[in-house]
Amino acid sequence: MRRIYRALIDLSLWCFVMYLATFLPCIEMRVDDFDQPAPREQPPPPTVLPEPIEQYLNLGICFHMNRSSCPPKGVCTTLGPGNMSVFCCDMDTNFLKEFLPGILKQNKTHLHVLNATIDELDVSHSMFRRLTSMAFTDGNISKIIGQFPKHSALACFNISNNNLTSDKLQSSIQRPFAYLFNLTVLDASANNLTKFPLSLVHSNRNISVDLAGNNYLPCKHFQKVMETTNSSLVHFLQYNKTFCALDLSFNWFKDVSFVNIDLIKIQKMMNERCREIIPADINCTCAPERLEIIENEVTNLVSVDCAERQLKEMPTNLPPNTVKLNVSFNNITSLEAVGADESYGHLRQLIVDYNDIPNILELEGTKFIGNFMLFSIAHNKLKTIHTYVLSNSFETTGPALSIAGNFIHCDCNTEKTLKPWLLENFKSVPDYKSLECQDGLGPVVDLVESRVCHTPRDWTDYIYYIIGLEVLVLVLLISKVSYDYWVFKTAGYLPWPANKMPRLPCDWLCE
Ligand SMILES: *[C@@H]1O[C@H](CO)[C@@H](O)[C@H](O)[C@H]1NC(C)=O
Ligand SMILES: *[C@@H]1O[C@H](CO)[C@@H](O)[C@H](O)[C@H]1NC(C)=O
Ligand SMILES: *[C@@H]1O[C@H](CO)[C@@H](O)[C@H](O)[C@H]1NC(C)=O
Ligand SMILES: *[C@@H]1O[C@H](CO)[C@@H](O)[C@H](O)[C@H]1NC(C)=O
Ligand SMILES: *[C@@H]1O[C@H](CO)[C@@H](O)[C@H](O)[C@H]1NC(C)=O
Ligand SMILES: *[C@@H]1O[C@H](CO)[C@@H](O)[C@H](O)[C@H]1NC(C)=O
Ligand SMILES: *[C@@H]1O[C@H](CO)[C@@H](O)[C@H](O)[C@H]1NC(C)=O
Ligand SMILES: *[C@@H]1O[C@H](CO)[C@@H](O)[C@H](O)[C@H]1NC(C)=O
Ligand SMILES: *[C@@H]1O[C@H](CO)[C@@H](O)[C@H](O)[C@H]1NC(C)=O
Ligand SMILES: *[C@@H]1O[C@H](CO)[C@@H](O)[C@H](O)[C@H]1NC(C)=O
Ligand SMILES: *[C@@H]1O[C@H](CO)[C@@H](O)[C@H](O)[C@H]1NC(C)=O
Ligand SMILES: *[C@@H]1O[C@H](CO)[C@@H](O)[C@H](O)[C@H]1NC(C)=O
Repeated sequence: MRRIYRALIDLSLWCFVMYLATFLPCIEMRVDDFDQPAPREQPPPPTVLPEPIEQYLNLGICFHMNRSSCPPKGVCTTLGPGNMSVFCCDMDTNFLKEFLPGILKQNKTHLHVLNATIDELDVSHSMFRRLTSMAFTDGNISKIIGQFPKHSALACFNISNNNLTSDKLQSSIQRPFAYLFNLTVLDASANNLTKFPLSLVHSNRNISVDLAGNNYLPCKHFQKVMETTNSSLVHFLQYNKTFCALDLSFNWFKDVSFVNIDLIKIQKMMNERCREIIPADINCTCAPERLEIIENEVTNLVSVDCAERQLKEMPTNLPPNTVKLNVSFNNITSLEAVGADESYGHLRQLIVDYNDIPNILELEGTKFIGNFMLFSIAHNKLKTIHTYVLSNSFETTGPALSIAGNFIHCDCNTEKTLKPWLLENFKSVPDYKSLECQDGLGPVVDLVESRVCHTPRDWTDYIYYIIGLEVLVLVLLISKVSYDYWVFKTAGYLPWPANKMPRLPCDWLCE
């Protein structure tokens, strides 16, 4: 029994020695004891894995290790030729400030810190100056501040999976990427960025960007990048897994949809089509209004501005997907084209202020009047407002009608129908108080029944008197004729005045 026991102890001892021999050179615990300040001034010596570095380089330049290779907490591994690559795990703010500068002092060019939980990462710090590959991944970085120094050698920057938002990444003053002329890979995947880091792609350089897993990046930004830069310059890593957020406006309520960036189509045609608006040479300006998914493609909805062009008619042949048209300050007299021209099919906002339009009858039954969001026809020559044309438009709150500065013809009917209609739809007609009556009768909503409906009431009374009088005369006439007939039958003569009447041709006939 005793021998077995001793053998076991021997075995354990041997195991311990073996363990020390194998692992001790690789492990040097970071002195984490705050009671002993002296050792903290020495950075913990890095452990060494003399391996070729290439297998740890993504895309040839991005130094990246996975968690299974993590050194113990508080220690960094160096590897590769010249020990130039540094790998650390589970780093906190204290370690970043106290020890990392010492570790990076000796000509290090590659750094990967996995799971850094730090308050702020100051990229302008001199310790990062020599790095060509810098990765802080799978951690929690509260803020990235500073700006990489001018002519930084950095070629790859990986800040994947750090719970970053755009506010944390790019304050408006400091653009961290402004001077990264050598940057060819940016991995900011698996964060929650809401703005595309546009400062990156303005330089005329090839760059690979990984923004997968940032689903709230607006599609507009991607489209801008694809349109303004030569699209071959920006390459999206994980292209199929990169999504963008599309603000969908279904007339009045908004929703967000996440779409694959593959659905974004560059709309180079818009300006060409803008020049094809009829009449020619009026130089309307066209601008992208917003994006929407139409037929499985992210489509540019277009806004057209033809204000102050001395137009006498509505323009036609608008660019495809025109949703907004401004033709204010012209001399337009008819809205016929809205229903007749097919290019008005997607129109949701029409602004025809300061024109000469007399009525809105031509909009009856058009697609526009059934779907509009904004219809502004202020300062025109409307004489009446045919409310039935608009009858279905305000079923939901949201669409807005603007009619100020029209002087309409007001009578009792206006008071009886238009005024209550305005009061009922006041939310949809914000300027309802500014619809005026002509002849100085004041705003329509201030019309008083007794002023505009007085005369018609008198007239109807008068007509009743006339009708009563006529009935009376008729009754008298019938009684007189009956009396005459009776006298004629019984006494054989015709009473006055029938006997004094001259004979008429029909009397001969009767006899
Ligand atoms: C950046 O880090 C993430 C998370 O660790 C990793 O999945 C990705 O491959 C890295 N990107 C590059 C380009 O090395
Ligand atoms: C970690 O890296 C090794 C190669 O270095 C690879 O074989 C392994 O699959 C990786 N593990 C994960 C979880 O990616
Ligand atoms: C790497 O560092 C270790 C000490 O940590 C040193 O012994 C070794 O010579 C270094 N290798 C190179 C190639 O510099
Ligand atoms: C990341 O590091 C923090 C401490 O710095 C630690 O509490 C946490 O468990 C680590 N996360 C993982 C996934 O290891
Ligand atoms: C660090 O780089 C400098 C010049 O850039 C060089 O003189 C020095 O020898 C390098 N040191 C090491 C340890 O490689
Ligand atoms: C990440 O940091 C934020 C802000 O410092 C903190 O609120 C949050 O709890 C942290 N998350 C984790 C998983 O540590
Ligand atoms: C930038 O990269 C080029 C080669 O791609 C290299 O010649 C140049 O030295 C680099 N610039 C800096 C500042 O490292
Ligand atoms: C991300 O950061 C926010 C604060 O900005 C924090 O409330 C949240 O817990 C963090 N999420 C994770 C997974 O760390
Ligand atoms: C990401 O950002 C969006 C928009 O700012 C926010 O609604 C969402 O909750 C965020 N998601 C996470 C996981 O923080
Ligand atoms: C990813 O996109 C490529 C084209 O860029 C396509 O050929 C491939 O089928 C897509 N993969 C998936 C899983 O959708
Ligand atoms: C439109 O632009 C062309 C060329 O720029 C110019 O010749 C023409 O006068 C412009 N027309 C109007 C109505 O401004
Ligand atoms: C267009 O209307 C403006 C005022 O609205 C007027 O001054 C101008 O003479 C009109 N032009 C034509 C061609 O009728």
